[in-house]
Amino acid sequence: MNSLKSLFLIDENITYLNHGSFGACPKPIFNGFIKWQYQLEKNPIQFLDNDLQKNIYNSQVALGEFINCSPDDIVFFQNPTTAINEVIRNLNLKPNDEILSSNHEYGAMDKAWEFISKKTGAKYKKVKLPYPIYSDDEFSTYFEKCITENTKIIFISHITSATGLVFPIKNIIDLARKKNIISIIDGAHVPGQIPLKINELNPDYYTGTCHKWLLCPKGTSFLFVNKKYQNSINPLIISWGYNNERVFHTKFQDEHLWQGTRDVSPFLTIPQAIDFRMTYDWGLVSEKCRNRIRLLSVELKDKFNLEFAFKENPEKWLAQMLSFQLPNPPSDIEKIKLLLSKQNITIPVFEWENKLFIRISLNGYNSENDIQKLIDLLPIIIKY
Ligand SMILES: Cc1ncc(COP(=O)(O)O)c(C=O)c1O
Repeated sequence: MNSLKSLFLIDENITYLNHGSFGACPKPIFNGFIKWQYQLEKNPIQFLDNDLQKNIYNSQVALGEFINCSPDDIVFFQNPTTAINEVIRNLNLKPNDEILSSNHEYGAMDKAWEFISKKTGAKYKKVKLPYPIYSDDEFSTYFEKCITENTKIIFISHITSATGLVFPIKNIIDLARKKNIISIIDGAHVPGQIPLKINELNPDYYTGTCHKWLLCPKGTSFLFVNKKYQNSINPLIISWGYNNERVFHTKFQDEHLWQGTRDVSPFLTIPQAIDFRMTYDWGLVSEKCRNRIRLLSVELKDKFNLEFAFKENPEKWLAQMLSFQLPNPPSDIEKIKLLLSKQNITIPVFEWENKLFIRISLNGYNSENDIQKLIDLLPIIIKY
């Protein structure tokens, strides 16, 4: 067994190849999370009335350093869906405004945009990107061609969910700024999977999770809002921070701090999760996983002639996830799922754009043996 696996709570009998869906929290971080909860219950008034602001701010400082932005520019959410729901309600969309996006976006996000489009008369336009994609240039040119004078928003993933691709979003953010379009980035899979420098990317809005690749407990996510929008964004939940004469920190921070009674313990684990990365040199662990994923893509192509959503240069498109398309004609998805579950392999098998995919995620707790188990099953899976 990989020695890092013993740091995690994951059942040792499971071959867990699905870090991407909900992450996995190491024991030391999970224990830290429970400690915060104990502290809360020992003296709720002290914790929620007196210490909340200081504790939350400490986490913002740690996260700000990790993702390279000011702690004042981030607020915490349970998940990216909630963060994006707040953003879309603040955009003041009008009939015929266009939100330009791609066909690689996460389904729940598509639904949020469809909802707001229906309510406002705006149009949610999903660019069908070339499949497979060849290059950054092809990507950006293709995207740029779809911008019209009505394009008000560009919404795009930094790392896509179904296809596991790292999109060249710096080009897209720069393009949006040049054309006076608001950029909203879904970075759910980014923090901890690839280095993130928000200040360099300079988006208008960026949401990410800490419970996937930064290894925090579930319900730890954030929203970055560019300073120019911080005074005008209203929180999704209006509560005690709203419209106060005396602002403690900034209006943006105050309004997001108190959202009704809730457990903020997950957010408070962020400094510890960052320390954990230092202790176990997780930057290197992550880099090794990225290298292994890229090699695996070459191996799968050579051995099984499998296809991916990118054409070449895996080092450009891939990080710690690899989605591969199963050969046509469409295989029997239920049979494949049953086979995998009988072998105790947890890995997503799903349809995307009428094609059948399997997405493998690698993290520090995975071993060569885990990968081999999947490879051994592929000749059978492909025949199904
Ligand atoms: C690309 C992407 N965006 C957003 C999300 C949203 O996550 P949640 O349902 O936790 O809000 C996910 C979840 O896996 C995702 O993969």
